[in-house]
Amino acid sequence: MESLKPLDKLRARRAKALMGGGEKRINEQHDKGKLTARERIALLVDTDSFEEFDIFMQHRSNYFGMDKTVFDGDGVITGSATINGRVVYVFAQDFTVFGGSLSKTYADKICKIMDMALKNGCPVIGLNDSGGARIQEGVDALAGYAEIFWRNVMSSGVVPQISAILGPCAGGAVYSPAITDFVVMEKNNSYMFVTGPKVVKTVLNENVSTEDLGGAKIHTSKSGVAHFLTNSEEETLLLIRKLLSYMPSNNMEDPPVYPNPDPLTRPCPELNEIIPDNPNKPYDILDVIHPIVDEGQFLQVMSNFAQNIVVGFARLNGYSVGIVANQPKILAGVIDIDASIKAARFVRFCDAFNIPLVVLEDVPGFLPGTSQEHNGIIRNGAKLLFAFAEATVPKITVIVRKAYGGAYCVMNSRHMRADLVYAWPTAEIAVMGPKGAVEVIFRKEAKESDNPKQVLLDREEEYRETFANPYRAAERGYIDDIIEPAQTRFRLIRALEMLANKKDSIPPRKHGNIPL
Ligand code: HXC
Repeated sequence: MESLKPLDKLRARRAKALMGGGEKRINEQHDKGKLTARERIALLVDTDSFEEFDIFMQHRSNYFGMDKTVFDGDGVITGSATINGRVVYVFAQDFTVFGGSLSKTYADKICKIMDMALKNGCPVIGLNDSGGARIQEGVDALAGYAEIFWRNVMSSGVVPQISAILGPCAGGAVYSPAITDFVVMEKNNSYMFVTGPKVVKTVLNENVSTEDLGGAKIHTSKSGVAHFLTNSEEETLLLIRKLLSYMPSNNMEDPPVYPNPDPLTRPCPELNEIIPDNPNKPYDILDVIHPIVDEGQFLQVMSNFAQNIVVGFARLNGYSVGIVANQPKILAGVIDIDASIKAARFVRFCDAFNIPLVVLEDVPGFLPGTSQEHNGIIRNGAKLLFAFAEATVPKITVIVRKAYGGAYCVMNSRHMRADLVYAWPTAEIAVMGPKGAVEVIFRKEAKESDNPKQVLLDREEEYRETFANPYRAAERGYIDDIIEPAQTRFRLIRALEMLANKKDSIPPRKHGNIPL
């Protein structure tokens, strides 16, 4: 290569760098059903928009013969591109080079684009496929990780950060994604764990498969580490493009507005019939969400985790909204620890990025019991309360059925500074459900009567008449109107128009102290 003319030398060296760890390793990657880092970027970004940086950077390690094994680019591809015409910064870890493991040079490359993204107010997308810290680099690799983590934290709430997990990610390779806003895991080849099954066996004498320890299903249904489960790498990358469409490029901008072919005043007559006559009968809250939003398009976040609460993005008249809705179909829509944490994080994302919140409420309360209490439902339930209270974006609540107890307060009530609160005629708003309530306040009266059962039944009916409706709250102005369910779409769109220029703030402080 030394004897080549300058331009030919550049071309030859670039061509070599483009091959990453070489043809054999690329074939191995394909044989596993995985794409290469470059193929992934090509699918993620707009055609021909990728501008690469630092393709010639190399590691500087001498230990364990590393000075004899050097690859241009050092196992990570970094640069800028556009997605749907908007600038993003991207890194893609290249498993064909040292298993995608991270050196100080590799970290410096990622840090460079993270700094540029922050300065220019653009999202960062990380495509992860890495064995963690490069073992031969020792503390340099750890320093590199810590530099990335610090930037993840500084960027949090300033620019959106999205992680795709597309291979076995271990050690430091999981903590950076954990700090980002959304983690997408591909079902066949992606894993996340702090230490792999071999270490688990050594330390704990526990036998566990890679899949059961940190596979995509575990992280999207049990641990709550990841937000989306996809069937392929292509689906993962397309999902990221879609997800980005709901958010602004940074916290100083509003989300993009899309043309809306769906009529604003389109009634949703099916909603007038959706609430069952029996208040204990479940229904699917998705059947409420879909008719309301533009063209029925709802991008659900964490759909397999804490399914008793539903969160996700949609548009109303072309404007992005974050929807938080109790799901009566699962655990009667009760709020438990996982539901609170899931919804709180989503609310905080929307608030950080100027996405109005729409709450659809049907909640019988917080989940009682020793398991929840011992695991801290008090501390964890408070997270959702904290998140709604702190949020200053436009906040609208529609109480569709139950709004009982602390859950009424927490779920974006007027008193948490919701801007507009509507109720359907089927709303029930009180300290607790009729049965539980009469057993507390009329137990003595029932006990002293000849027919305790009848007394409780009569009192229950009386309680239901008094409180199991929206009128007490409407009489006090705690809800702004009782609306026909069929009109919900139009009323929400009009509410968003009313609140479009909302300016609100919270007292100046270093930061609040959310109960973590
Ligand atoms: C250096 C590594 C590496 C690493 C993999 N390789 N991980 N090199 N440092 N961390 C190399 C392998 O030696 C191998 O090189 C090539 O990458 C492919 O790896 P394989 O093991 O053949 O691939 P596979 O069977 O698919 O297994 C992938 C894997 C496994 C599950 C990721 O390699 C693995 O368990 N790696 C170690 C993971 C780990 O414990 N990392 C934690 C680091 S500690 P050759 O040349 O032989 O093909 C950490 C601390 C930071 O990250 C903490 C911050 C909070």
